Amino acid sequence: MGKKTMNDDNRYCWQHRHLLDVTQLSGQDVLRLIDLASSFQEINRRPVKKVPTLKGKTVVLFFAEDSTRTKTSFEVAGKRLGADTHTLGKSGSSLNKGESLKDTGLTLQAMGPDVVVLRHTSSGAARYLAARLSCAIVNGGDGWHAHPTQALLDCFSLHEAWGGEFAGRTLLILGDIAHSRVARSNVHLLSLLGVNIRLCAPRTLLPAGVHTWPVEVYAHLEQAVRGVDAVMCLRLQLERQQAGLLPNLDEYSKRFCLDSRRLALAAPKARVLHPGPINRGIEIANDVADAPESLILDQVAAGVATRMAVLYLLVMGSDGGSA
Ligand code: CP
Repeated sequence: MGKKTMNDDNRYCWQHRHLLDVTQLSGQDVLRLIDLASSFQEINRRPVKKVPTLKGKTVVLFFAEDSTRTKTSFEVAGKRLGADTHTLGKSGSSLNKGESLKDTGLTLQAMGPDVVVLRHTSSGAARYLAARLSCAIVNGGDGWHAHPTQALLDCFSLHEAWGGEFAGRTLLILGDIAHSRVARSNVHLLSLLGVNIRLCAPRTLLPAGVHTWPVEVYAHLEQAVRGVDAVMCLRLQLERQQAGLLPNLDEYSKRFCLDSRRLALAAPKARVLHPGPINRGIEIANDVADAPESLILDQVAAGVATRMAVLYLLVMGSDGGSA
């Protein structure tokens, strides 16, 4: 997909009540979100980074799993649009007294939020709440399943880095693919936009059924990285792994850590992404994480703009879609 923007198609209309997975999005939806995120990025660079667009609206951040980037950026995004934001974590909530996800959701619903952003350890948790609550639900990451706003912000970051040209570009996703919701969402979204995707991981960290994904799989990083336009490193999701999938961390990092010597095999000016949190020296070396090619902190800034776009479209609905 080239530089076409939604301004090329005035009939576009956003039609989604919730954002649960990237599989619900069309190419037009993604371009509309990128267009809007670009506008919000411009606001985020102003001395006064606030607009009253969602004044009087309420966004609840219900994070039943730990988060730094997603939680904080949704909170900043809501506040920059003028909404009231409230955060509930697992720690300190009545989930710890045995209250169910359904009852916690209904309790939050009774307070009249316009949007609930849910992060949860269980795949399908956001869809479960969306079937039971009347407000908009955003999936802020559910188990291994999906992390749609992460994939959208990665897409926005690559749009900026590649000058809007996705078709024919090649991205390598490197590391623990099997346990990664980020990998699943990015493979779907970026292949929709015409990006060629390579995966590189030990066999034990590739998902079952990977042969059905629209990707090329590599066992050796030196081959996988050759000529690519960007590399996305993923951390080992030790909290989701069974024991025994890796011999040891030293062996893993010797074969799969992206360092400057390996990055030199990629295309000139290849960019480096990581959704975070990063484990330096395991999946990414310091000299790459802190290099000028690294987009890691640009991704964090893109997260605020992209989540502003998501909140805007979900709250303003089809009016927002044609704005
Ligand atoms: N990328 C990401 O989801 O980071 P957090 O877990 O810090 O939100």
